[in-house]
Amino acid sequence: MRQVTLHQLKVFEVAARHSSFTRAAEELYLTQPTVSMQIKQLTKLVGLPLFEQIGKKLYLTEAGRQLYATCQDIFAHLNRFDMTVADLKGLKQGRLSLAVVTTAKYIVPRLLGPFCHRYPGIEIFLEVTNHDQIELRMAENRDDLYIMSQVPPIPELDARPFLENPLIVLAPREHSLAGQTRIPLSQLANESFIMRESGSGTRRSVQKLFDRAGITLQVKMELSGNETIKQAIAGGLGISVLSRHTLALDGETHQFAILDVEGFPIDNQWYVVTLKDKHPSIVALTFLEYLFTEGTEIARRAIAWSDAPVLKPLTIR
Ligand code: PGA
Repeated sequence: MRQVTLHQLKVFEVAARHSSFTRAAEELYLTQPTVSMQIKQLTKLVGLPLFEQIGKKLYLTEAGRQLYATCQDIFAHLNRFDMTVADLKGLKQGRLSLAVVTTAKYIVPRLLGPFCHRYPGIEIFLEVTNHDQIELRMAENRDDLYIMSQVPPIPELDARPFLENPLIVLAPREHSLAGQTRIPLSQLANESFIMRESGSGTRRSVQKLFDRAGITLQVKMELSGNETIKQAIAGGLGISVLSRHTLALDGETHQFAILDVEGFPIDNQWYVVTLKDKHPSIVALTFLEYLFTEGTEIARRAIAWSDAPVLKPLTIR
């Protein structure tokens, strides 16, 4: 193994992560034969097959899985070393990997803007996905930190509340219930409801509320992502429950009404979550400090609740 090169390990790590030589070639800007050749040489050095092909799919062998875990350790250590050297030189430099739930995508880029201007040497990787995908990424230790509402109740995680994330009932502006007050929850059972995809934390919160009340919703359609649902609401296809943050962007709020329904807003919070056993990089520590000092204030200014088309003042219960 001492003759193995870092380049070979990098090629292997990317191929193993994608379970595909073609996608590894794309990510690394190499040709597919180059990737195959690197893996072939690495396999020879290891002395055992690293991949096996079953049908059209590529799987890691036991040796491949062990090598993949080793590669992740090696690259994590090298990254940390890079950052330590940069820090010793008085620079904040390195890669920061964040994974956030879809509801947080309206705020996190606005937080990253000022942070990136202050630390131009920090390279950001931002994954926006739903709750279940975030849990998978946590299990694989893929990122420096996570932002989500429903933190899995396991002792390996550190979670700090960051910002409120109220869930509201959103309808087209002309909806017959718009402007009414104290609408009973049961009335939503008569409405066409648009539900987030399974794996969404928002969906889980909605289901919990209605299950507790013993109300069955008429789910007219299931759509992935908040933006698609907003378009469906604006198009008159139904109503839905979304994060209040989905209305954060300027200029698009006039099409919707927030319904004043009993039990709403659902009073969720976002948490910044890290893995307890993960040694945070200098860059991650710098970002965490920024988040909990200036970040919250920047986020609060960005959300500007008062711009939204609330037919009565929104009270966060
Ligand atoms: P999600 O977000 O619906 O995109 O999974 C839920 C959350 O805010 O944690």
